[in-house]
Parts: sequence; C-alpha cells; structure tokens
Amino acid sequence: MSELIKAGILGATGAVGQRFIEALENHPWFEITSLAASERSAGKKYEKAANWRLESRLPDSVKDMEVVPVDPKKVEADVVFSALPSGFAMTVEADFAKEGFAVASNASAYRMEKDVPLVIPEVNSDHLGLIDVQQDNRGWDGYIVTNPNCSTIVMVPTLKPLMQFGLESVTVATMQAISGAGYNGIASMAILDNVVPYIGGEEEKVETEPLKLLGEFDGTEIIDADIDISASCNRVPVMDGHTENIWAKMSQDPTPEQVKEAFLNFNPGLGDLPTEPDPVITVRNEPDRPQPRLDRNMGKGMGISVGRIREGIRYTAMGHNTVRGAAGASVLNAELLHKIGKL
Ligand SMILES: NC(=O)c1ccc[n+]([C@@H]2O[C@H](COP(=O)([O-])OP(=O)(O)OC[C@H]3O[C@@H](n4cnc5c(N)ncnc54)[C@H](OP(=O)(O)O)[C@@H]3O)[C@@H](O)[C@H]2O)c1
Repeated sequence: MSELIKAGILGATGAVGQRFIEALENHPWFEITSLAASERSAGKKYEKAANWRLESRLPDSVKDMEVVPVDPKKVEADVVFSALPSGFAMTVEADFAKEGFAVASNASAYRMEKDVPLVIPEVNSDHLGLIDVQQDNRGWDGYIVTNPNCSTIVMVPTLKPLMQFGLESVTVATMQAISGAGYNGIASMAILDNVVPYIGGEEEKVETEPLKLLGEFDGTEIIDADIDISASCNRVPVMDGHTENIWAKMSQDPTPEQVKEAFLNFNPGLGDLPTEPDPVITVRNEPDRPQPRLDRNMGKGMGISVGRIREGIRYTAMGHNTVRGAAGASVLNAELLHKIGKL
C-alpha cells in the first residue's frame, strides 16, 4: 500500500488506549495521527499525559504527540479507534460517525443497536453489511462498528464451530483478569488474596452478545441465534487473560474427540489480515492448560487457547482480554473494513 490509513485513538491514555498504540505502532496499513483523551490530558505531550504501563516500551513516535480533546474537529484521521467509557461513547461516537469518520469501537454503547454491526471477523464478517443499513437509517457519512465484550470474545470463537452439532445451550463461569476493569477499576486491597463473584453488567453482556454474533444477517437485520446462555462472572487476581469454564449442550451430542477436531479445523480463511491469528483456536493437550500466564500471548495475544475438553461437553477457554478482548479486536475489524473497501 502506498499511503497509510490515518488512525486516531479516542481514550488513548487508558488501559485499552495504550494497547491500541502498541497494536498500531509499525502496522503495515495504519499510522497513528491523533491521540485524544479527557480535558485532564488534552494539551499535554502523550508521555506526560499517560502513565505507560505495558511491558513494551512507549514508542518514540507518540511520546511527543500532543493529546487532543475527544472532538471530531480536533482529530485528524480516517478511522478512530474508541477506548472511551461507555456513557461518554454514546454521544461522542455518533458525533464522529456524523462527521464521516469510521469508528471502530470497544465500548458497549452501540453493540446491541439493531443497525450497528457487532463483529468478530472469524465468526460473522458478513454482518458488516449492516453498515449500509446504519448509514441509510441515520443519515451518517461515517459509521460505527463494534467488537464484543472481552469475555464474550473469548467464548464465541469456540461456540462457532459447535454450531454444526446443533448448539442448544451454554453455561459459562468466567475468571476475569483485573486489567479488564481499567487501571483504576478495582483496588488492590479488594482483589489480592481474593475472588469477587460480581462484575457489574458483565453477565448480561455475556448472555446476549453471543446471540447477535452467532445470528444470521438477512440483508436488513440480524436474526439472533436460538441458544440459551447462562453466565456467572468472577474477578480474580490475574493481570491479563480471561479464563472461562464452558458447558455446551448440543442436539447431536458429539464426543470430546469430535469437538476437538471441530476446534482444530476451525479456519475462517480470512487469509491476509495482519492481526489475524493462525490458528484462531489452539487446543492444548496438557491436563492443566490453558493458563493465563502461560498462554495469553498465543498469536501475539489474538489466539484463543482451549483445553480440558471432556464428556458433557465441558472445556476451558482462555484469551488475552486487553488484546483479543479489546484493542486487537478493533484493529482486526478495521483491517477487515479495509479489505472489503469500506476504509
Ligand atoms: N480493559 C478491558 O479489558 C476492556 C475490554 C473491552 C472493552 N473495554 C472498554 O473499553 C473502554 C475503555 O476501557 P479502559 O479499561 O481502557 O478504561 P480506562 O483505563 O479508564 O481509560 C479511559 C480513557 O478514556 C478517557 N476518558 C475518560 N472519560 C473521558 C471523558 N469524559 N472525555 C474524554 N475522554 C475520557 C481517559 O482519558 P484521561 O486519561 O485523560 O482521563 C482514558 O484515556 C471502556 O468502554 C471499556 O468498557 C475495556
């Protein structure tokens, strides 16, 4: 590609915003042209505004960039990646879409809106057809595309290959990392030596988002998948990586070996997206895997690791919540948008 696509990051100073910088630094298709955050940060150099907390170094290319307010008139970009708190995202993402920006959002604000695509490229890339419906409905020059909640995205790529066996119901218990709550999300005194069996709004998201993701797009709307999902969500003292115990009931009652084969054969064949993991699902044969500390960086943090597939069907899935579950998911969506000519 001769010219790079200009990318802005909204909420660039936060936990997910930093992951966006990491994912877009040296990206073959995108270049970071704007970093936006709250009034607290606006006007400062990025290095001063953000407290960089990732293992990787803060890239030199963004250190001296001036942070701008989250305002379409102040942001220079073709696509904006949103890592904003959901309440604020509701108004501001629409402002950007009205002004002609493509918005790739992590926030939950628009995920369940009927005319907004909620997409995992390996699962439901055809749902991007909703962009035309959205622009017709709302009269926007730009558009919003969303990616799912960080727990949903670990589970749904494993449910997709089970659809062939007549998936009827799913029960899931999550063990979610503390980075999922953002840097200021949960006090260390509350989570160290502890498990917190409640994450506000999480169970509702894990029970509803998969139905849209696994649903059928009929050209005008999504017909939700007919699956019962029951979720219990827990916060555990892990830095990064959500682990999920999943029980899946299927009408054809496959054996663990058939399920394992289905996971291994799951190849959505997108082919040439820079952030796409290969394979999407890695099946671990060791009895004590997957584990977040050992497996979260599989596929540069974009792979889903699965193990403990047993009669029932019961298994464990694990994925990196701020990479696969947040910034990497939006970047992969934007790569697909570029591939299909929407960006
Ligand atoms: N963490 C995860 O694993 C994860 C996964 C999936 C989705 N998400 C979603 O991603 C979004 C960001 O999460 P996070 O964990 O990165 O949060 P975070 O660490 O608290 O960062 C929030 C960012 O938004 C900016 N911001 C906050 N209020 C603002 C306002 N009123 N106006 C303009 N900018 C504002 C902050 O700027 P300042 O630094 O200037 O305050 C900061 O850059 C949320 O919607 C979250 O639900 C998070």
